[in-house]
Parts: sequence; C-alpha cells; structure tokens
Amino acid sequence: MALSVSAVPVEETRAATILIVDDRPENLAVLGEILQEKYRVLVANSGQRACHLFEANPEIDLILLDVMMPEMDGYAVLACLKENSATRDIPVIFVTAMDASEDEQRGLDLGAVDYITKPLRPSIVMARVRTQLEAKRARDWLRDQNAFLEAEVARRVAENLRIDLERLKNLEKLQLTLVETIEAIALALEKRDPYTAGHQHRVSELAVAIGSEMSLPPEQIEGLRLGGLIHDIGKIYVPAEILSWPGRVSDLQLDLIRTHPEVGHEIVKGIDFPWPIAEMVMQHHERLDGSGYPLGLKADEILIEAKILAVADVVEAISSHRPYRPALGVEAALEEISRHRGVQFDPVAVDACLKLFREKAYAFASQQNAKG
Ligand SMILES: [Fe+2]
Repeated sequence: MALSVSAVPVEETRAATILIVDDRPENLAVLGEILQEKYRVLVANSGQRACHLFEANPEIDLILLDVMMPEMDGYAVLACLKENSATRDIPVIFVTAMDASEDEQRGLDLGAVDYITKPLRPSIVMARVRTQLEAKRARDWLRDQNAFLEAEVARRVAENLRIDLERLKNLEKLQLTLVETIEAIALALEKRDPYTAGHQHRVSELAVAIGSEMSLPPEQIEGLRLGGLIHDIGKIYVPAEILSWPGRVSDLQLDLIRTHPEVGHEIVKGIDFPWPIAEMVMQHHERLDGSGYPLGLKADEILIEAKILAVADVVEAISSHRPYRPALGVEAALEEISRHRGVQFDPVAVDACLKLFREKAYAFASQQNAKG
C-alpha cells in the first residue's frame, strides 16, 4: 500500500495568532486595528515582554516587530527568538519608520522574512501578513507530512525487519531439522553397521578440514560435513555379512556393494536440502578420468564436494582397518592420493589433504572410538 499524504489546507481552521511588538501604544493600536478583524492579536510594548510572550504562547504564527525600542531593540528580540528551538521558525516582519536599506538588510540577515516601513497602509500590511501566513502554513504542512512519512517509513522498516527476522528464524529452524534428519539417518546406519558409521564420521571430519584448507565458504563446508556423514548410506541395502566379510568378496557381491551410491542417492534425493547432499552421495566414487562409478563422470561433471569426499574417503579407507585386511596407515593413504593426483583425484583437494597431514599434524579425531 502506498503512503498517502493530505493536500495543503486551503484555509486554516483557526484564526492565525499575530504578536505585535512596539514600545509606542499608538503604533500597537493602529496595527491591532488593521489586523484584529481577521486575526487573533497579542501585543507586547517591550522586547522583554515579547520574549516572555513567546514562551507562554507557542502557537504564535507571525510577529510584527518594531526595530527601535528602548533597552531591547528589534534585532535583540529577533536574536532571542532564533535561539529557542520552539520559536526559531516563527516568521518575523520588521515594522519601522526607518527606511535605510542597510537596516532592512540587517533585519533580513538576522532571519526576518519581510520588512514594512511606516507610515503603514492597511492594504499593504494585510497583503504582507497574508503572504507570510500562507508561506508558514505551507511550511508547517510540509514539516508535518515529513514527520508523518518518516514515522511511517520507520514503522514499515521495523515491520519488514520483524518479518525478515521471523523468516530467518523459520529458515534456521528448518535447517536445524534437516541437519537433525541427516544425523538421524546416520544414526540409523550406525545401529546396524557401526563400522560404516565410524568411517562416515571420520570422512566427514577430514572432508571439512580439506574444505576449510581450500577456503570454501562456511555454508558449503556445512554441506560437506553432512554429505560426509551419510555418503555411504546406500550400504544399508547391502547385507551386513557382505560388509563385514573377512575375505575377498565375489564379483557379484562387489557389484552389490557398488550399488550403494545410487541407492543412497535414491534414499536422500527426495529431501529438499539446501546443499547438494544427494549428488555428493551419488558421486563420491567418481574419478576425474572417468574411471569411477556409477556414472563414470569426468572432471568438471563432478561436484567439488564429491571430489573432496573422494579424497577423504580413500585416505580414511586405506589408513583404517578393514574386515578383509589390517590398517595400511596414513602414509600409504597419502601415497595413494599423491600417485593419482590430477588423474583420479582433484589436485587442489589432494594438496590440501597432504598439507593437513604433513604440515598441520592432522589426525582422525574419532578413530579411536570407531569399531575396527
Ligand atoms: Fe562409498
């Protein structure tokens, strides 16, 4: 809805209040006579009295101010008026017998809006007064509209901010739910196959470390963490006896094991994650040269997250115990990724992984908790 403003009122609903300041009673009488028919008139016969009147009558719309007065002249009264924020904007017309142009200039410089010289002609006084009152009314209207618009804009900004915050909270809640979903899926697998669960945790940790070393954005690293936690979820479809088989598996059993990226993809693809989790699961056995599975994707066809997972997966698998062989150690794992750097494995991810182990003393934190 657009902001609406009202039009400048053509006529004021109340009579304007005009203060006449002059030390001579006959001048007060003449001006009062001219103005009182149409306006509410206040009078002050000295500068001091005028200053008191400003404070007691903040509704004054216009001041007709004599220049030559004893003790406090019109210039001093004007200065006193301009010092106070409540009276600063009241327009002042100087009324004086003097007609020297330097006096006129001094008054205008001090902030007077007009200058009338005596002898006074009623029609001139009324015309000047009307002009200044209309100008003041327009200024007041603009000021009020500005204040209204500023308040309205501030109110709407605050409202939008509240809505955005609410939305953000809901998004955070949703994201937390998704994270919890992944962790629940990982937990379900752990109950059935603690070996794979331990492997997934360690791959997730290493993938996060590699992603950080590569300076990936925090959001992407969070996706990597979660993708790593369930990258082998498809193994839920492979009988536990095959996964824990202590010897060499048959070709048929190997084919069954190799279905796990697609099965895993099938399991998680329906969940609308803000990260490409299903693709990470699907692609973590793909290799840069197309020798991987299940799709034989190459280089740029593979997600960077899947390339990182592939490096972390191989390093963890080789350095850890397997049901069919003892642990080969981290050094053997690093040699393997170095040998296939740029051919099977992303060179940047490999370099980051080597740097972690060789220069930053990286170690699998959760290895001792994993079975096997
Ligand atoms: Fe896998």
